[in-house]
Amino acid sequence: MLLDQRHLPEDVVYLECRSAADVAGAIRALAVRGAPAIGVAAAYGYALAAARGEDLGDAAATLLASRPTAVNLSWALAEMRSAGSDPAALAACARRLHEHEVERCRRMAAHAADLLDPGTRALTHCNAGALATGGVGTALGAIREGFARGLVEHVLVDETRPLLQGARLTAWELERAGVPHTVVADAAAGSLLARGEVSAVLTGADRIAANGDTANKIGTYPLAVLAAHHGIPFYVVAPSSTVDLDTASGDDIPIEQRDPAEVTARFPAANPAFDVTPAALVTAIITEEGVHREPYAASLAALGRGREEVRS
Ligand code: MRU
Repeated sequence: MLLDQRHLPEDVVYLECRSAADVAGAIRALAVRGAPAIGVAAAYGYALAAARGEDLGDAAATLLASRPTAVNLSWALAEMRSAGSDPAALAACARRLHEHEVERCRRMAAHAADLLDPGTRALTHCNAGALATGGVGTALGAIREGFARGLVEHVLVDETRPLLQGARLTAWELERAGVPHTVVADAAAGSLLARGEVSAVLTGADRIAANGDTANKIGTYPLAVLAAHHGIPFYVVAPSSTVDLDTASGDDIPIEQRDPAEVTARFPAANPAFDVTPAALVTAIITEEGVHREPYAASLAALGRGREEVRS
């Protein structure tokens, strides 16, 4: 059962998936989205395939093909593939993977909140919260932890065109959590930073390359450029399951190109769903293991990716 994010914030609707193909369809259609949540959903989809006696190779291939950029998808499937084929063992493995992502959220939120000053006015992009992770969130988890500590005063929420993950999902989460927030058009960020209305930018990530280059929702890179120009910290908050040591740099990260009709059905359109922020523009990457700073290669390489935890 998935909370179908396409209906938020108006309606809370659950989607029942009965096969790996159903789960892959839900991921492709963004019923479930956000890098860690995609990985968790794929793990449950794989366990579901085992329970139904589906061919596990086909199930993994179907799930893997659902979206290209978030590395959590291939990471979660590799974890599941290494856990054998017993349905009960795979169900337990998926639950463990989920629990570990929840725990990673809690730990990275605490580390990231340590970087925030009293009176922080945070700006965030897309949705990097509970909906995107299954736990408290990555960037939004850090903001919520900062609010709980009395450090975050207000949150500016980029609406996140074209599918409005900020205006629909992040605002919904902040409203439910009682955190003061204001939705702004993506294009408003520059003038807000210039006017001193933002003290830190925090985003999640879909894939962090070995050198620290970071793919995240389209519109993240311009925020990093603006933050550097205005001398404001730009923090990427993500679990180790989003770090892809097999991808050397951002040039090698596959960028999802979605249906142009999501932008406009009337005119020719392009719809790249992610962009890449060069490591040099990132003030710090915060994972569950702590705060990583430039040069990123050494500290990211040292990250344990939790494989043995999930199987144990
Ligand atoms: O297309 P989406 O909604 O799956 O994109 C999600 C993002 O870009 C998030 O910022 C990212 O997955 C980090 S979520 C903790």
